[in-house]
Amino acid sequence: MSIAKNFLLWIVCLSFVCAPRARAQDTELHFVTWKPEASQVWDQAVRDFERQNVGVKIVREIAPQSSTQIHDLLAQKLKNRDARLDVFFMDTIWPAEFASAGWALPLDRYFHAAERNEFLKAPILANQYRGQIYGVPLFIDAGLLYYRKDLLKKHALTPPRTWRELVEQAKTIRVRERDPHLVGFSGQFKQYEGLICNMMEYILSNGGALWDDKRLASLLDQPAALEAVRFVRDQIIGEISHRGVLAYEEPESLALFTQGRAIFHRNWPYAWKIANDPEQSRVAGNIGMMLLPGFTGSGVAALGGWQLGVSRFSRKPDLAWRFVAFMTSIENQKRIALATGRAPTRVALYDDREITDRIPHLNSLLETFKRAAPRPMTPVYVPLSNIMQRYFSSVLAVPNTDIQKRAALTARDMNRVLDLVREKNIP
Ligand code: GLC
Repeated sequence: MSIAKNFLLWIVCLSFVCAPRARAQDTELHFVTWKPEASQVWDQAVRDFERQNVGVKIVREIAPQSSTQIHDLLAQKLKNRDARLDVFFMDTIWPAEFASAGWALPLDRYFHAAERNEFLKAPILANQYRGQIYGVPLFIDAGLLYYRKDLLKKHALTPPRTWRELVEQAKTIRVRERDPHLVGFSGQFKQYEGLICNMMEYILSNGGALWDDKRLASLLDQPAALEAVRFVRDQIIGEISHRGVLAYEEPESLALFTQGRAIFHRNWPYAWKIANDPEQSRVAGNIGMMLLPGFTGSGVAALGGWQLGVSRFSRKPDLAWRFVAFMTSIENQKRIALATGRAPTRVALYDDREITDRIPHLNSLLETFKRAAPRPMTPVYVPLSNIMQRYFSSVLAVPNTDIQKRAALTARDMNRVLDLVREKNIP
């Protein structure tokens, strides 16, 4: 055997002997996330963290992007006190539940008040429960209206200020364009959390609410909410959209818009970059973005966003925190923002030169984030959301359902859950 061959054999043997030992020495940190846009940025961040923390391996589990589905997956793992879950993505509506169930680790000893001040207020508030903090905001969301600038211009229309005006404009454009594939509006009306965000925006901008936080009573059976739901069913879905939207989450509804098949589109800020990317969108350069319309007054945007939380059952909380701090750092939020257009939660980035140059609209969104309406904060948010999702979904899907009757039954079911909160004195 030649020397070279011998050497090769020796290397191969050595790698067999050494590799398992090296792997066993690795400290694994398990991270449940959903697959974000521009995944190369996330891969890079993970690699950088691993490089800075020699011997640490981030094991990522990619969960479905739907808030409802990732919630159920995490809840299952946390109920089982699964030690192979250290850090997780957390929707803005879960901290109260995860805290009260004892699933999320309070982060106060790591995440000090001075540092919290560097973040936007709304997501910090959303992460607090009974005086402790359970997550670090990674990016913030608020509902926005996207529209086809070219089509509005062509038909001498200015962006709509009310939902009724939007419906009229959509009808006008469709009649004049005579394109059977062009719909007036695409939003998220599937039975999942996104449906609550969409419907809450209509209900709140019509002067209603999902429930009364003080009296702990559902308000879905009240006139303002009933009217808003009827409007969506009869004017949006029944008139200018198509029934396909009843199965749409964010990606499907955005796809309709980027294919040039929707005049108006409701989505979060991340949609801007995708819709303007000629590789991914047929309408790149032809879109506008604005505040959501209202009914009589101004529109209301739902507040959304994602945080990183640490499992209370993690055996490596200090390391988990280091990873959370790294991922939510100014440098990492900046690279996520530049690559995806996701809105950062760190205030300083709104004055960052590179960000303002490359994402000029971001600064103007600050006010929208400040005014956006949070979904009510309670440990029983998810059961209430499930009840509401079933209601909205069933009344939107069938044109002649008795909305008032369904709403009354829904309010009764919601009140039962809210009664439990009252009886147990859960804030
Ligand atoms: C976005 C929001 C999140 C919301 C979800 C609904 O991801 O950030 O808060 O619950 O959409 O689909």
